[in-house]
Amino acid sequence: MGQLYLFRLGKNPELSIAEVVSLLRMGSAGFSIRHYSEEIMLLELERRPPLLERLGGTLKVAEVIDTFDGGIGDIDTAKYFPDARQSVVFGVSAYGDNAGQNSQAVSGMVKDKLKSERVRTSHIHSPLELEHGKIARKKISEIIAFENDGRIYLARTIFVHDPFEFRKRDMKKPHQRHELAIPPRLARIMINLAGKRSGVLLDPFCGVGSILQEAGLMGYQLKGLDRNSNRIPECRGNLEWLKKEYKIGLSHRVICGDALRMGQYVEPGTVDLIVTEPYLGPSLRKTPHSAKAFKIISILKPMYEEALKGMFQALKKGGRVCIVSPRFHSKERPTRLGMENLAENAGFSVIDPLKGTSIGHERPLLDFTERHRLIREIHVFGKD
Ligand SMILES: C[S@@+](CC[C@H](N)C(=O)[O-])C[C@H]1O[C@@H](n2cnc3c(N)ncnc32)[C@H](O)[C@@H]1O
Repeated sequence: MGQLYLFRLGKNPELSIAEVVSLLRMGSAGFSIRHYSEEIMLLELERRPPLLERLGGTLKVAEVIDTFDGGIGDIDTAKYFPDARQSVVFGVSAYGDNAGQNSQAVSGMVKDKLKSERVRTSHIHSPLELEHGKIARKKISEIIAFENDGRIYLARTIFVHDPFEFRKRDMKKPHQRHELAIPPRLARIMINLAGKRSGVLLDPFCGVGSILQEAGLMGYQLKGLDRNSNRIPECRGNLEWLKKEYKIGLSHRVICGDALRMGQYVEPGTVDLIVTEPYLGPSLRKTPHSAKAFKIISILKPMYEEALKGMFQALKKGGRVCIVSPRFHSKERPTRLGMENLAENAGFSVIDPLKGTSIGHERPLLDFTERHRLIREIHVFGKD
């Protein structure tokens, strides 16, 4: 049997799971999904999950240390707090069945044990869940208790999503265009969904560069294109800010150009992955009725069609695209672009990131944004 890990999923669980699966495949780590819900996924892995620092959509990852059937038994605290033997700042989060009861039981037991071991202890109390931002900010050692079907898993948190860093990249970069920009969390998820660990990443609708920023931190060589000449110095400025802020080297080339004439700007067969959110239509104050949604879609369709053809040319064989398209929830019925057909017509194959797992999902993956009154469809396509 392999090692068990708990993943505390983010606000869009299906997307979080798809990202984790893609990351594990990228890192060639065999896994099987033992349980999943809106909150928690329990995975059995053949080794420690690779590439955790790349995650955008998972709040916590914890390594299961003890498993109990019928009540919590004794634990070895050194396994839960390997780095701190003189003093410990710890907290407990509990998920699944009997969460309140388990949280209390584990907190009490750990406090007593540490006291008897003469370890100075500060317990950060929380009725059920310690918020991930608090754990990141206060550097709290966390124990997770998860109960399912009468079995209790006790785990040590080994990764926490740091919302302050993500917010900094969203809100503190010098050039912001919130009506255009994709959240860094989603940018990261999309980069991971493309499933290419390294290489040249192109965003042909780069705007102020939110996707390029995340990709730069993840070590890709960056190429950006935008038709609007105002975006180019803004995007470059944001990448220079990132370099200073995170003390990293970056290789980037951002130029003004039309993504519908890709061949003029990008040498064919030179790009490993394309991750992009093209123009999604005008910002809307309220959900459009069916006729209006249909009109927006019919205006966007030729643009997406042409852009996909250019993307196919730009990619190397084996290259991948992760791309957003809009879906409007008109009251009557959702209106969408039908990207799968457009992609197949351009030569791509449609990739299901959750294929081969037990997880059924609505295809394509979706992400909801209040701001645009639309739903983002998130597609992965491959050039075989
Ligand atoms: C939704 S925004 C992209 C946001 C970007 N991913 C970010 O987070 O900053 C779409 C961008 O596409 C650009 N654009 C629209 N049509 C284009 C075209 N034909 N070629 C290149 N860029 C285009 C717009 O100027 C805009 O900056």
